[in-house]
Amino acid sequence: MKLFIDTANLEEIKKANSYGILDGVTTNPTLLSREKNEPISQLEKICKVVDGPVSAEVLSLDANGMIREAKERAKIASNIVIKIPCTVDGLKAAKKLKSLNIETNLTLCFSPSQALLVAKAGATYVSPFVGRLDDISTEGMDLVGDIRLIYDNYGISTQIIVASIRHPLHFVESARIGADIATVPFAVIEKLMKHPLTDIGIERFMNDWKKLKDNLQIK
Ligand code: G3P
Repeated sequence: MKLFIDTANLEEIKKANSYGILDGVTTNPTLLSREKNEPISQLEKICKVVDGPVSAEVLSLDANGMIREAKERAKIASNIVIKIPCTVDGLKAAKKLKSLNIETNLTLCFSPSQALLVAKAGATYVSPFVGRLDDISTEGMDLVGDIRLIYDNYGISTQIIVASIRHPLHFVESARIGADIATVPFAVIEKLMKHPLTDIGIERFMNDWKKLKDNLQIK
């Protein structure tokens, strides 16, 4: 499973990239609004740091506007992927962008029917939002399982990006289900390698080594 970071913060992206496990970035208007920089120049900077796909969202709600914005965003860098909401206009835009060889990420996906239709329109990626479903007492990961099943039934190549991830269990469950990608906020990425028994184990090894050296009086 690929790991994307879900942020527009350059420091977080650089840090996660330095771990050697980062495959891409997803942004959205909310995440970009948290940064001081002008959004297009922020996206340019992000694309210079990361080789993998960087999702940038359009703000238009009509297909023609989405296509116009997508063409503009695609000029930012060769690794830009256009994020489009799962609406009827989004479908029309995705189909057109596919014919122009512009990659798309159909976002705000909350149902298997949306996921099937965006795949039929030629979406490169679909982003089911698991955390926001959990927020309304609906099992978000069930949606990912349904999409995996449906895509496998028909050999669909649209890649599933599990989004709105809130904790490490969402990440692990995504891998169990066979999602293609998990896009994870930096705070959650940091938790993925943490285990108290690892920390306790390191501390014990260090102490025992120190005791050994003290006993033998070596440096
Ligand atoms: O990738 C989508 C993500 O940014 C939304 O997350 O936590 O706002 O539901 P959240």
